[in-house]
Amino acid sequence: MTPPPMPVDTSILPDLKADLAAKPRELFINGEFVPAKSGETFDVIDPATGQVFAQAASGGAEDVDLAVQAARKCFDSGAWSAMPPAQRARIMMKLAELIEANASRIALTETLDNGMPLMMGYFGAVMAASETLRYNAGWCTKIGGETFTPSHPGEWHGFTQREPVGVVGGIVPWNFPFVMGVAKMAQALAAGCTIVLKPAEQTPLSTVILGELIAEAGFPEGTVNIVTGFGATAGAALVEHEQVDKISFTGSTVTGKQIVKACTGNLKRVTLELGGKSPVIIFDDANLAKAIPAAAMGIFGNAGQVCAAGSRLFVHEKVRDQVLEGVTAMAKGLKVGSGLDPASQMGPLVSDAQFARVTGYIESALSEGAKVHVGGEKASVEGSEGGYFIQPTVLTDTVAGMKAVEEEIFGPVLATMTFGDDDLETIAAAANNTQYGLNASVFTQDITRGLKMAKRIKSGMVNINGAGGGPDPAMPLGGFKQSGWGRENGRAGVEAFTEVKSVTVNLG
Ligand code: NAI
Ligand code: MG
Repeated sequence: MTPPPMPVDTSILPDLKADLAAKPRELFINGEFVPAKSGETFDVIDPATGQVFAQAASGGAEDVDLAVQAARKCFDSGAWSAMPPAQRARIMMKLAELIEANASRIALTETLDNGMPLMMGYFGAVMAASETLRYNAGWCTKIGGETFTPSHPGEWHGFTQREPVGVVGGIVPWNFPFVMGVAKMAQALAAGCTIVLKPAEQTPLSTVILGELIAEAGFPEGTVNIVTGFGATAGAALVEHEQVDKISFTGSTVTGKQIVKACTGNLKRVTLELGGKSPVIIFDDANLAKAIPAAAMGIFGNAGQVCAAGSRLFVHEKVRDQVLEGVTAMAKGLKVGSGLDPASQMGPLVSDAQFARVTGYIESALSEGAKVHVGGEKASVEGSEGGYFIQPTVLTDTVAGMKAVEEEIFGPVLATMTFGDDDLETIAAAANNTQYGLNASVFTQDITRGLKMAKRIKSGMVNINGAGGGPDPAMPLGGFKQSGWGRENGRAGVEAFTEVKSVTVNLG
């Protein structure tokens, strides 16, 4: 298959790199770029080489405070929240256009920073971000309430209205830095909130570009503020800030729990989009030509660094060998390499820490009796010796209770299990045997069976015969159990940035 033409203008790469090397990226507060008050910066590493290629301001409590004050002032003034909704929508649409006009710079930055293949940087970072902005811009004019007739004696009228929750702290991880930051921001902005965004310390750069475009799009000062920095400093300061009304967090379940505790100070609202250990269930009647690549790319895509990754494969014993063979062939055939190489289908892991974590899980699986069917080793990539590359990996002889079966690995490592002609309850029970409940995939040509499985699986998302390649801004995204609180995307996502007010009127 010939790949589609590369939509990214890679000729700008040398200038982009020179610019990144020349000066540290700054914080974006109240419409201006400023260094951290401490003057501190931190190194940004290209995971394909292990080399430092940029610096970013290391925001601390003082910087977070300034950013929150700017967001507070903007919110309280009504400059954004009271702007006519249609006008807010137009500014958001303008930002979507600016993102597309800067597509090459954003995609290349995302690839340098995170390691993802450039095509994914383009479609997964740039195009997904502009689409989510447009989708959410549409909500500005559609958020409303309900009317009621209260049962009190006399004549009454009751209604609800939705008001923006206020100042939002958005904390974003490193696996899809740009689109996740934009999605949180877009939903908050549609609701009329202002926001302080904190990208992950591993991948601060594309979000800084967002700051530039926000300045250009015509948002009132302070509507969106961006503080780069570490979780323990910038992140913690944002979460603890008394003037922040809501935290929207995406990241690990461990950090999510810390955030919940830290938010008790002013009982700020919290939504959490956390980890997963999502099952992929392939029945013996499945269309394997569809199921096999979906299962493979569901775990190897973005090197498995995807919250909704299908990391536990349950396959009917009748088709087990065929599925395993197909997934193995894909694992062997995937070109692992620098995201900048147009031939690469899987980039490096984001950091040395993530590399150690993923290889640690593979070792633990082996020590618990699992076998590596394919992969399992550092991938050697010519010209990228310092990169954090790992081979796409399939484990067999994996059983419930093993660390690699229970815990989120966040790498391209698939645990495989089989089932026989069991009833659906038994199959669903095995799939549900996890602390997580984010996503699930079911492959069967029997749609009734697919729908019955969808009813029985305890997760926020279920895909039948395919996932469509990524989240859709219209479809709620989030988890049951320890995969999170609340939903992003869709109506639910925007409403999560609002408070409901009941107004009761006596007409007597
Ligand atoms: P993390 O959850 O610690 O980091 C995510 C974000 O939270 C970053 O922006 C970080 O700076 C911030 N943060 C960290 N500690 C904080 C605190 N105390 N208060 C406020 N903000 C804080 O994830 P980490 O350590 O980078 O990755 C470890 C593992 O977490 C991964 O291997 C993966 O299993 C999981 N993870 C899951 C993600 C998902 O989308 N489900 C995304 C990222 C990580
Ligand atoms: Mg961390």
